[in-house]
Amino acid sequence: MMKPMLEFRHLKKNIGGPADRPLFENVSAKVAEPAIIALLGVSGQGKSTLLRILAGLEAVDEGDIRLHDISLRGSDPKEWRKKMCYVAQQAVMLPGSIEQNLRTVSMLHRSPYDEKLVRRLLPKLGLDHLEPGKNAQQLSGGEKQRVSLLRSLLLHPSVLLLDEVTASLDRASKELVEQALREWHEQEGTTLIWVTHDLEQARQMSGSVWFMGEGTLLENSRTERFFERPETALAREYIAAPLQKEQSHVHSSS
Ligand SMILES: Nc1ncnc2c1ncn2[C@@H]1O[C@H](COP(=O)(O)OP(=O)(O)O)[C@@H](O)[C@H]1O
Ligand SMILES: [Mg+2]
Repeated sequence: MMKPMLEFRHLKKNIGGPADRPLFENVSAKVAEPAIIALLGVSGQGKSTLLRILAGLEAVDEGDIRLHDISLRGSDPKEWRKKMCYVAQQAVMLPGSIEQNLRTVSMLHRSPYDEKLVRRLLPKLGLDHLEPGKNAQQLSGGEKQRVSLLRSLLLHPSVLLLDEVTASLDRASKELVEQALREWHEQEGTTLIWVTHDLEQARQMSGSVWFMGEGTLLENSRTERFFERPETALAREYIAAPLQKEQSHVHSSS
């Protein structure tokens, strides 16, 4: 049998705290071939933490991750991050221009700067109005999100870990980004693991859903099935009112 492209088993993340309960444990999944996966669940379940662990940006307390049958343990972190690329919700721009931000990625990974690809992708991400020489710090949140996404695409990762990357976009830009990512997935075979609270987006974009709850990966099913017949009461509740959940969490923690 073919080895899965991506596989992780029994991941556990401790965060200390009062009851000393782990943030999550026993998180296991396999991705056999290029896929688009929506990673869903109310705030505070550890979705961002899971993505950061997969990207090798944060330590895991138990378990292992294998990509193309190579374990994260013992891999060169820089090589790993090039293949499993995390795109943060709050995009951080490096000092300098948009172009310098894009070039830095190629420089760090000693690959030639693909200007043709940049020129092709800018309009697809709704960024063609921007001068490449513009100071990246002065961009709006939504522009930074898209520049940061473009910066990651330039690495041609096997897996893109997307953390609410369309959360601060207007509808038109959001739809552009969705279309660009769909095309990229089809053409490059890149797997997308996509955290979103936009259930319409999850339904339309993903082939399967990973639902986090009760400190673990509670459900892993085909998208259609997840939305039609969720297995747990928690998922049913989430599908019914994801935004209320999200907002009440934001209020209670601020
Ligand atoms: N290393 C850590 N130490 C302490 N708390 C952490 C750590 N990592 C994550 N957390 C906490 O765990 C919770 C869930 O994290 P997060 O991954 O951001 O969840 P989600 O993305 O699902 O909203 C947050 O309250 C966060 O503060
Ligand atoms: Mg998060």
